[in-house]
Amino acid sequence: MLAEIVDGRALARKVVEDVRAGMASLDRAPGLAVILAGDDPASHVYVNGKVKRAREIGFNAEVILLPADTTEDRVLAEIAALNARDEIDGILVQLPLPDGINTLRVMAAVDPAKDVDGLHALNAGRLSQGSGGLIPCTPLGCMKIIRSLVPDLTGSHAVVIGSSNIVGKPMAALLLDARATVTQTHIHTRDTQFICRGADILVSAVGKPGLVRGDWIKPRAIVLDVGTTRVAKPEGGHRIVGDVAFEEALHVAGAITPVPGGVGPMTIACLMENTLTAARARAEARRSVPRSVAEKAWLA
Ligand code: GUN
Repeated sequence: MLAEIVDGRALARKVVEDVRAGMASLDRAPGLAVILAGDDPASHVYVNGKVKRAREIGFNAEVILLPADTTEDRVLAEIAALNARDEIDGILVQLPLPDGINTLRVMAAVDPAKDVDGLHALNAGRLSQGSGGLIPCTPLGCMKIIRSLVPDLTGSHAVVIGSSNIVGKPMAALLLDARATVTQTHIHTRDTQFICRGADILVSAVGKPGLVRGDWIKPRAIVLDVGTTRVAKPEGGHRIVGDVAFEEALHVAGAITPVPGGVGPMTIACLMENTLTAARARAEARRSVPRSVAEKAWLA
């Protein structure tokens, strides 16, 4: 039997519908600002997709474009200006940043209450403690996909390939919080293939096309392909490919996310959800007593 191919676009539509409905509780449209530094073509495509979707649902969305030779100080100054603007609820700094800019320092500069990418140490710490906060969009989207297939993960073995701050680590934390037994593999792991074969849920977030072969997959496993590698097409242009050898996996897995059309649309939908969450928490904080930035983030 062939695996179920997960329709990430349909699931994302549902998330976006809920966001639209949730906007009714606010007295103004949520505001999202995206900082994009450099000319990485893939980043430009992703940011256009995010801003387009935000505007479609009625958010105020703006992009701050910075040249490839921009300095860290300039990025930090833009973030400080956005932190200070009350009508901005969400700030996203598109990654990767140009060489020479320290990503962790940049993430630390974003007001945690506006950190819709969930990359500030406060939000990452809250996630690892299971105490709320804003959660990175891709792992959040993956969890929604997994939950749509298996509502209760108690006791399942989940394997996450990759240990980035943006996907691998938060993904493992979410799965652990959902009571799965989690194994995380990375570049130095010995025999990743053997470990993957034991996975009921397998998430690959590496960016290496064809890394996960059919014989890495446990029969009937749920496979989430987070890989998004741009490869040139022989006829010109580019296409996005995942980490999983899709045709092979289709004959082994129980369910699999395609690339494109799987995790990608959920990442954008979850960015909308996080922006609404941040807007609501900030509106609530405005209604209550003045608080420090850290307290406001804690309340988010
Ligand atoms: N680059 C690729 N994916 C992402 C994402 O989800 N957020 C940010 N900020 N940068 C990215």
